[in-house]
Order: sequence, then structure tokens, then C-alpha cells
Amino acid sequence: KVKIAVFASGSGSNFSALAEACKNGELNAEIVLLVTNKPDAYAIERAKKVGISALVVPPKSFESKDAYEQAILSALQESEVEWIVLAGYMRLIGPVLLSAYPSKIINIHPSLLPSFPGKDAIGQAIAHGVKVTGVTVHLVDAGMDTGPIIAQHAVDVVDGDVEKTTEAIHAVEHYLYKDALSELFSR
Ligand code: GAR
Repeated sequence: KVKIAVFASGSGSNFSALAEACKNGELNAEIVLLVTNKPDAYAIERAKKVGISALVVPPKSFESKDAYEQAILSALQESEVEWIVLAGYMRLIGPVLLSAYPSKIINIHPSLLPSFPGKDAIGQAIAHGVKVTGVTVHLVDAGMDTGPIIAQHAVDVVDGDVEKTTEAIHAVEHYLYKDALSELFSR
């Protein structure tokens, strides 16, 4: 099994979908660690419920981004993590993690990149008035949602409504991510 760490800053619905896929064998991987920068992330509760350890690393308690990422890296190495899987982790990955995990950091983003990178991609898409948006899984590089694209799926905007469209996007994310990772890990 491939040992992975999932990074999340928020609700963690993608974390749970991946944990379920690992458990039922759809994904030949084991989540050895949840990493979060947010002490109040609901993802932490989800990890506890399924017996996965959660590492809470508040960036403010470090003097630099490098020191912050070095602390995360030590924990990843201790747990022999092979791939980093970002699932709603709302921080840019810096040089420490990028050089320790070259081409082994994956992200999911709620738009058809390169449209609408960054925060609130669904809100941006609806504000722009697009009728179709979607989900992208991509390799992480130093940019904001810019690395090579691995998988994409289109999702219709529902009634110009952020909440309904978010629901539709999440449903797609929860199967697209496990399928894309499964493909990647079997190469
Ligand atoms: C997901 O929609 C993910 O694509 C997005 O955050 C959400 C997290 O939901 N990520 C980004 O916007 C990254 N730029 P979750 O916490 O329920 O998995």
C-alpha cells in the first residue's frame, strides 16, 4: 500500500471520501496522517472518528515558512509518507516540501483550471457567469493551482447558485480524486 498524508484546512469531506476508498480497497493506499494548519478544522474530528492521527501545525508558531514546512516534513518522514495529497489545504506549498516530494504532491481544485485559480473558485465562476465549471486534479508546483493537469471533469453551474453548485462539485470531487490517485499510484 502507498503511504499518503492528506493535508486539509477545512471541512474535510474529501479527506473522508479518500479514507473510505482506502478502507474499502478502491484506493491501494493508507492515510497515515492528516496534516492541518487550522486547529479548528472539522477534518480533525473526521480523522479521529476513523482512527487516523491528526497533526495540527499552526503556521504562526514558526518563525518562517521554511521552519513550518520543516516541522511537517519531519513528521512525514517519521511516518514514511510517500505522497502528499492536498484536500482543501489553503496554503501554497513551499520549497521545503516541493524539494522533498518532487512530483509527489497532488491537489484537487474546484474549477476547470487554468480558469479560476485561488480561493473561492466556485464563487468566482458564478460571479463570472459561466454555465459550466468543474474539478481539476493536478500535480503541485510552486505556483497557485498551476501544475500539470492529471484529470478534469466538467460540472454544470446549478441555477447560478453557489450552494447548489458546490454540492454538485463536491459529489464529483469525491469520486474523481480517488480514481485519479488510484491511476497514479498504479503507474
Ligand atoms: C474542495 O472543494 C477543494 O477542491 C477545495 O476546497 C474544498 C475542500 O472541501 N480546494 C481548493 O479550493 C484549493 N485551491 P473539503 O474540506 O470538504 O474536502
